[in-house]
Amino acid sequence: MVVPYKHEPFTDFSVEENKQALEEGLNVVQSYLNHDYDLVIGGKRYSTNDKIVSVNPANKQEVIGTVSKATREHAEKAMQIADQTFNTWRKTKPEMRADILFRAAAIVRRRKHEFSALLIKEVGKPWNEADADTAEAIDFMEYYGRQMLDLKDGISVESRPIEYNRFNYIPLGVGIVISPWNFAFAIMAGMTAAALVSGNTVLLKPASTTPVVAAKFIEVLEEAGLPAGVVNYVPGSGSEVGDYLVDHPCTRFISFTGSRDVGVRIYERAAKVHEGQKWLKRVIAEMGGKDTIVVDQSADLELAAQSIVASAFGFSGQKCSACSRAVILEDVYQPVLDRVIELTKNLSVGETKDRSVYMGPVIDQAAYDKIMSYIEIGKEEGRLVAGGKGDDSKGYFIEPTVFADVDENARLMKEEIFGPVVAFCKAKDFDHALEIANNTDYGLTGAVLTNNREHIEKAREDFHVGNLYFNRGCTGAIVGYQPFGGFNMSGTDSKAGGPDYLLLHMQAKTTSEML
Ligand code: NAD
Ligand code: ALA
Repeated sequence: MVVPYKHEPFTDFSVEENKQALEEGLNVVQSYLNHDYDLVIGGKRYSTNDKIVSVNPANKQEVIGTVSKATREHAEKAMQIADQTFNTWRKTKPEMRADILFRAAAIVRRRKHEFSALLIKEVGKPWNEADADTAEAIDFMEYYGRQMLDLKDGISVESRPIEYNRFNYIPLGVGIVISPWNFAFAIMAGMTAAALVSGNTVLLKPASTTPVVAAKFIEVLEEAGLPAGVVNYVPGSGSEVGDYLVDHPCTRFISFTGSRDVGVRIYERAAKVHEGQKWLKRVIAEMGGKDTIVVDQSADLELAAQSIVASAFGFSGQKCSACSRAVILEDVYQPVLDRVIELTKNLSVGETKDRSVYMGPVIDQAAYDKIMSYIEIGKEEGRLVAGGKGDDSKGYFIEPTVFADVDENARLMKEEIFGPVVAFCKAKDFDHALEIANNTDYGLTGAVLTNNREHIEKAREDFHVGNLYFNRGCTGAIVGYQPFGGFNMSGTDSKAGGPDYLLLHMQAKTTSEML
């Protein structure tokens, strides 16, 4: 009997023992900095001359590791292996597949602080955010393992006396997992775990800024007993390897998390049927967000300000769920704005190997340039009231930035910035606030701070986002507790860490035997 699922607790780093454990993790990571990682195809290692160099975004000089870059030939080889391996993997017992995930979760739990330390180095996460990323990776494995056990016998259907009918879920085939860098461990591991535990084989293409944590995860899967060829590690260029695999006739499904532009491109390309292809490809796409916190007159204003700051600036605003718009009813606009400015000005920015630093860098030069260009746009569209400066001399640091009095139709209110920038907008009344909140192509997360029951019920019906929170911030969904995923241009309406997520990786088969 498997014990019921419970999410992995977060670590309290004010406890000396925990602090030391993470420092020890940093030492372990330090000992393998600059190592070279191979592709892993069918359990064999392949080294290429062309490398992806993963650097610490807080310190560009520090190389986290170099990773072989897959060519199309490697991608093709990996596809052939994954296709062959599917013939055996699909017939393995779901219990065995779940056990591999449980073992992998246990291995990660034992090395928890090392993985968090790696995220501090490779992604620039502050300690608490790195710890949450690692905890979520563990949660995905524990949760999806149990989900598979629940689904293994299918769902009961009616049978007449002369027949025996069964309705079972079977795997799809070879899946391409294309993961983002921002939850470099959790989302990469979660997408991979879901695909493999439901009986599919996988080609994993992690984001090019975070390939080392993915290489370490492959080692964990191997140690947990995953047979060769089930998950193949093929880091490479999105446009070269990504397009090739998305187009491949043997690809059965694509599980993608990343930006809207890339998601739309994959969705379009996957729709085309190529020669030799026998199915319509399935696409699970989780994309961007333009997430809003609404505050009304009845709200606890201190809680509102704290929620906005935590949701806007946690991990430098680089969460699809991050609050990038604060829509405040006019009666309470000024006090909430004043308190947010005050809190924001007290946030520290720097290298996150130091536990006390609240906000680390943004991920790379392209992100830095994009966010700084939005700050310039913000200066035209609103009033800069906090932050606004950047420094990319050593790492990619940007101050937490607040713009006040932004028009509801401004670019700052519509486009995903994916950095530490929040725009404040005034609403006439609650209906107007919801209108502004819904005035975007996205529909990922949102929060309403209110003590007005009618407003809660109205928002529940009319605030069109996949994850809506009341009286808290809009980030920090927990696997199995707040299944996560958005509407509209935020994706294909899937819910990672939810009870129906594995079904997206399977198809239902009806069998009927005459008695
Ligand atoms: P991205 O779209 O730039 O990259 C995501 C992945 O796609 C990477 O592995 C990248 O190499 C790959 N890729 C790029 N071009 C490709 C192509 N032509 N074919 C196939 N793959 C290709 O996104 P990112 O910068 O890594 O992540 C940030 C984005 O992800 C933000 O927009 C954020 O909102 C979104 N995100 C969404 C969720 C969610 O659950 N909805 C979660 C995390 C991040
Ligand atoms: N699942 C992450 C959150 O809720 C993105 O913040």
